Amino acid sequence: MGKALHNRFPPGSIESRDLQHMLHPNTNLKLHHREGPFIQERARGVYLWDNQGKQYLEGMAGLWCTALGYGEEELVRVAADQLRKLSFGPTFVGKSNEPSVLLAEKLKAMVPMDAGRVFFGLSGSDANDTQVKLLWYYHNLIGQPQRKKIISRLKGYHGTSLAAGSLTGLPPFHRHFDLPLPGFLHTGSPYYYRQALDGESETDFCDRLANELEALILREGPETVAAFIAEPVQGGGGVIVPPKGYFPGIQAVLDKYGIILIDDEVICGFGRTGRAFGAQTVGMRPTTMSVAKALSSAYLPISAVLIPEYMYEPMIDASGEVGTFGHGFTYSGHPVCAAVALRTLELMEEREIFAHAAAMGEVFQHRLQGLADHPLVGDVRGVGLMGGVELVADKRSRQPFESSLGAGLICTEHAHEGGLLIRPLPGDTIALCPPLIINADQVDELFGKLESALDRTLQQVSDHMSG
Ligand SMILES: Cc1ncc(COP(=O)(O)O)c(C=O)c1O
Repeated sequence: MGKALHNRFPPGSIESRDLQHMLHPNTNLKLHHREGPFIQERARGVYLWDNQGKQYLEGMAGLWCTALGYGEEELVRVAADQLRKLSFGPTFVGKSNEPSVLLAEKLKAMVPMDAGRVFFGLSGSDANDTQVKLLWYYHNLIGQPQRKKIISRLKGYHGTSLAAGSLTGLPPFHRHFDLPLPGFLHTGSPYYYRQALDGESETDFCDRLANELEALILREGPETVAAFIAEPVQGGGGVIVPPKGYFPGIQAVLDKYGIILIDDEVICGFGRTGRAFGAQTVGMRPTTMSVAKALSSAYLPISAVLIPEYMYEPMIDASGEVGTFGHGFTYSGHPVCAAVALRTLELMEEREIFAHAAAMGEVFQHRLQGLADHPLVGDVRGVGLMGGVELVADKRSRQPFESSLGAGLICTEHAHEGGLLIRPLPGDTIALCPPLIINADQVDELFGKLESALDRTLQQVSDHMSG
């Protein structure tokens, strides 16, 4: 028995067994062995209870995904009905099922792009891997086999599988994993608070980033670049909302060199930013899109990649020659996941969830801005129902805390004690992303709890502050 297997929890408890058997994704394993797991037991609406019966307000919608909140009986009913009717029906070799066809049709009608075809997967990561494979395949078919490189951005988060992990622009997702793979390039993030030069206006900052992208494309050879991928608002990298002129500037560069824009809407899609899709909020003109998470409000795993018809057309003959279109997953177009996603989108329409999220987003953003005066807070960023609160050691000079202090984690722990679930991102930014069904009283409760957590954090870390 390795020493990591000893823990402070009673033998046989679920916590102890977790520590003996699980390999946790996206977790500091060392810290996990010290602290143990947080066991989530049940949830309803925007609240969740742990296995000790303690109640929490869910300030992160799980992992940016439980848009309609928990315990939505209508989705439970649809899942159960579909499980009884056809629990599985593959979409390989020309087989199909009604829920996935209807979902594809519905998605095409919703998205802000000229969508021709919809490919289903199960996660944001597999959606982005599919994006890369489809672009490689497509460029081979149209006689541009050299056009294979994909540009993403530092601080971007696109998942952790081989291609998606390569697209992700955060060092912890590369180190020791031999990523990124060759042909995956990263350009700067529109992180104005930290990346702008002294005295640089937002306009000049956006121009500089567009020029930096163009220089990278020219250095690599424009004819070798297949696509640029971006989240409308960078989520996992720190809730980075681009300045207004950013995407128009980037789009002009992409258009100049005929480079495709992949819009990663895995977090921003379906009302999160105050519009149906993040692309509409930030002014992107997507060629292709990845969606997941809120697509099924996380009731079941499902993702979708949308591509224009012109990318699909050459695939018909090519797959005829090869014998198959050789990409897909057993559960692509799983009828139960598709039925739940379809009903999720219908509920969003019937209940006018996007309008509700936009209205609550205003209340939320107003309270978020109110945190800017707190001595610990260097920057607040947000749009719609997502927000980021960056903690600093010195407000004036923007000096960050020593990363070993874990200021963001300390704040998250105080929030946790106070019954609020939030998440620390790299760089001591606290992420906020409540379910879209949150109401004004609950937004108030969220910020009341966060303010208490910030005050307690301030007491704990004041020795480390230089301001
Ligand atoms: C923008 C974005 N893309 C892709 C992913 C990867 O999704 P998944 O974890 O479902 O693979 C995430 C996950 O948080 C994400 O935020």
